[in-house]
Amino acid sequence: MVQLDVEPISGVLGAVVCGIDLAEPLDEATVEAIRLAFVTHHVLFFRDQDLDAEQQMAFGRRFGELDEHPFVYGTDEHPEVLDILTMPDDVLNFGGGWHADVTFLPEPDLGSILFAIDVPAAGGDTLFANQHAAYDALSDTMKGMLDGLVAVHSAGSQYQEGGISTRSQAMRTKNADLAANEVQHPVVRTHPENGRKGLYVNRAFTSRIRGLRRNESEALLGFLFDHAVHERFTCRFRWERGSLAMWDNRSVQHFALHDYAGQRRQMRRITICGDVPS
Ligand code: SIN
Repeated sequence: MVQLDVEPISGVLGAVVCGIDLAEPLDEATVEAIRLAFVTHHVLFFRDQDLDAEQQMAFGRRFGELDEHPFVYGTDEHPEVLDILTMPDDVLNFGGGWHADVTFLPEPDLGSILFAIDVPAAGGDTLFANQHAAYDALSDTMKGMLDGLVAVHSAGSQYQEGGISTRSQAMRTKNADLAANEVQHPVVRTHPENGRKGLYVNRAFTSRIRGLRRNESEALLGFLFDHAVHERFTCRFRWERGSLAMWDNRSVQHFALHDYAGQRRQMRRITICGDVPS
């Protein structure tokens, strides 16, 4: 077994893992150690990796089956692999708003694994927010109100014809006619591995709370969207070429900053299939 060195990078989430080459086949004990660190720290960062798409996929498969994005084409060789490219003159970037990945699906992805191929000289950091910490910080009265509520999620605003994510010149989107489909998930999700409760709504994909009037739903969601990503629940990662991040979509929201106009950024993403939130 490889001896992992796991160093937290903030008080609430995120840890850098050293002492491992992810291109090498990993034994079961090492995978278990990574899984434990993942569930404990919610997002793991590995630096100085040298991975091609197949090696990244082989690493991802140790944690579950890989998923295919329903609205963004993968690469020609691997439909499960997204080439997340921002061109120097792009106005919008992929993931440039707080969200957890694909919560508009009945079984949203468990986690995502992002590898940095080309990064700007400065900028292009990714922010992460711990949704367990955000839930824990609420009053007991608010927790009581939220427990049992159900929210509606959809990819409409992002992937319908003319949606935000269809406007990036470097990403090819598909299935726009299906993007407005709705699914329902609990507002408070219990993590299937660590048993902790966390907020499970996000500004990109959650449209309303079932059973509330429109203005009630907007007010409550507006509060939750802001609260969930308050600075005290976040960490920020500065990418270098060869960095890899692996985050838990069941407990984390993330935000890809676009503060590098005039520069190119290229990342390779895979996602791991998840389960029905409860
Ligand atoms: C994403 O939302 O998966 C993109 C994150 C990033 O590019 O930093």
